[in-house]
Amino acid sequence: MTLEAVNLSLGYGDGDLTTFAVREATMRIEGPGFFGVMGPSGSGKSSLLYMLSGLKNPTAGSVLFNGKHLENMADKERAALRREHFGFVFQQPFLLSFLTARENIAIAARPGDKAANRKADALLEELGLSRLADRTPVHLSGGERQRVVVARAMINEPSIIFADEPTAALDHRNGFAVIDLLKRYRDRGTVIVVTHDPAMIAGANKIFHLEDGAITHVEISEISEPPG
Ligand SMILES: Nc1ncnc2c1ncn2[C@@H]1O[C@H](COP(=O)(O)OP(=O)(O)O)[C@@H](O)[C@H]1O
Ligand SMILES: [Mg+2]
Repeated sequence: MTLEAVNLSLGYGDGDLTTFAVREATMRIEGPGFFGVMGPSGSGKSSLLYMLSGLKNPTAGSVLFNGKHLENMADKERAALRREHFGFVFQQPFLLSFLTARENIAIAARPGDKAANRKADALLEELGLSRLADRTPVHLSGGERQRVVVARAMINEPSIIFADEPTAALDHRNGFAVIDLLKRYRDRGTVIVVTHDPAMIAGANKIFHLEDGAITHVEISEISEPPG
């Protein structure tokens, strides 16, 4: 899996009055792995993530997923790509209130997937959340809801999970627990976490630092080969 941004910009307004949420960002992510985007509030993290994931069109530049330009696709094609290959986790854990945790996960499976319930149970089990399976959201804490959202993001085994401040609404303990679940996916797929909290992306393969919409530097962690 390769995800690339080339001179990616998102501007608001016209001419001299244009303000840029993201300016000429160039970056490359080769998965699988765990990647971070760090920056203060208003630095353009969400804007960058939305463009990388095809949720928002750039005003200039390109995003390439496995060499394919997202910005040249028709909206329908881009939506299909998102459904098929991407998973999402946002700051607020949105679940359907009338469904159990299991059902909330299963409903995100591909249409007609007869194994949806079984896959949901397997994910809950794997992530140590089986006790939550039959609860509706009102009977889950904020941290538990976000754990269920993480499981839901994994149901179709996406190439990439995009997480925008997934821990910002949680206390540190719950935040770390959610990050721990996301990190378990790093061998199977690519996880990209946007945060203003460096503790949440410690140990990432790469961290892209954003300031005023621009990537100022990239931290690369060299994971050494095991001996022998
Ligand atoms: N619809 C909009 N119109 C004008 N400016 C916007 C709009 N959306 C975001 N911005 C600006 O773009 C910048 C980056 O926003 P955002 O990507 O949400 O940053 P972050 O996620 O790092 O907090 C901010 O200065 C914000 O005010
Ligand atoms: Mg944001």
